[in-house]
Amino acid sequence: MMPLLNKNAVITGGSKGIGKSVSLSLANAGAKVFILDIDEINGSNTVKQILNQKEKASFYKIDVSQEKEWDKFSKKLENENESIDILVNNAGIWLGKEINDVSMEEYQRLISINLTGVFLGIKYLTPFLIDAGKKSKYGSSIINLSSVAGLVGSQLDPLYSMTKGGITTFTKSMAIYFGKKKLPIRINQVHPGIIETEMGDQVSDARLKQNPNMTSEDSYLAGISQTPIGRLGTAEEVAKTILFLSSDESSFMTGSSLVVDGGLTAQ
Ligand SMILES: NC(=O)c1ccc[n+]([C@@H]2O[C@H](COP(=O)([O-])OP(=O)(O)OC[C@H]3O[C@@H](n4cnc5c(N)ncnc54)[C@H](O)[C@@H]3O)[C@@H](O)[C@H]2O)c1
Repeated sequence: MMPLLNKNAVITGGSKGIGKSVSLSLANAGAKVFILDIDEINGSNTVKQILNQKEKASFYKIDVSQEKEWDKFSKKLENENESIDILVNNAGIWLGKEINDVSMEEYQRLISINLTGVFLGIKYLTPFLIDAGKKSKYGSSIINLSSVAGLVGSQLDPLYSMTKGGITTFTKSMAIYFGKKKLPIRINQVHPGIIETEMGDQVSDARLKQNPNMTSEDSYLAGISQTPIGRLGTAEEVAKTILFLSSDESSFMTGSSLVVDGGLTAQ
């Protein structure tokens, strides 16, 4: 089964972590994958891995917070007559700092990647997604990466939570907007719990810093004990959900939220 055969997908932050798993998974489902990331080395390796499996991928060095770079990328797509059916707004960062320790530069960087990056991705790729959506029975698809920290307050990073809460309501608002304007785009979001990626490690490091009596082992185990299923999640488990939201299997879903957190927010 190739549910994404002949579909083109843009994945931001696709060089490593969840974005890498999403890139591999969507390519394996038949999509041609465009990876947008600032990390060229890991991005090229991910592309190589996909090409070695006789699937399609390319890498573009783009900082999602920079409007000029989105503009350039969208013009390139236009010149090359490319269409885009799927956009996964995955690139994101974590600060893990107490509020009084955060500088204005760090705050602006967080906002510019986690929020502005999502706005720009949607702004510049919507015309492509509309065109592609008109040719597809159930329209094209946008998936935003929110977080459990976009549903409940984060104990470790209130500013990260601020950005992810913004994504949560922005996704719902855009679903209403596309629907009311009869634009053929579905937009949904995923809320991962603690996932074993570099960002997952940063969460553990932040817990350690904020609890000086803990060892790094204690901090890692605290993440597990917060999670009813008894372990942390994998990037592949999040990617499976994103594959579902990318495909026509989720044809009647828009403005919805899938929580992939091992029960973290069920408590
Ligand atoms: N790992 C978790 O526990 C977790 C939990 C909830 C939500 N999330 C969300 O999932 C998404 C992916 O997280 P991850 O764990 O894979 O993170 P990660 O740090 O492992 O990978 C993030 C990727 O985004 C890229 N990136 C960072 N800034 C960028 C920029 N300005 N422009 C382009 N690319 C940029 C990085 O180079 C990297 O490839 C993020 O939005 C994150 O907030 C992660």
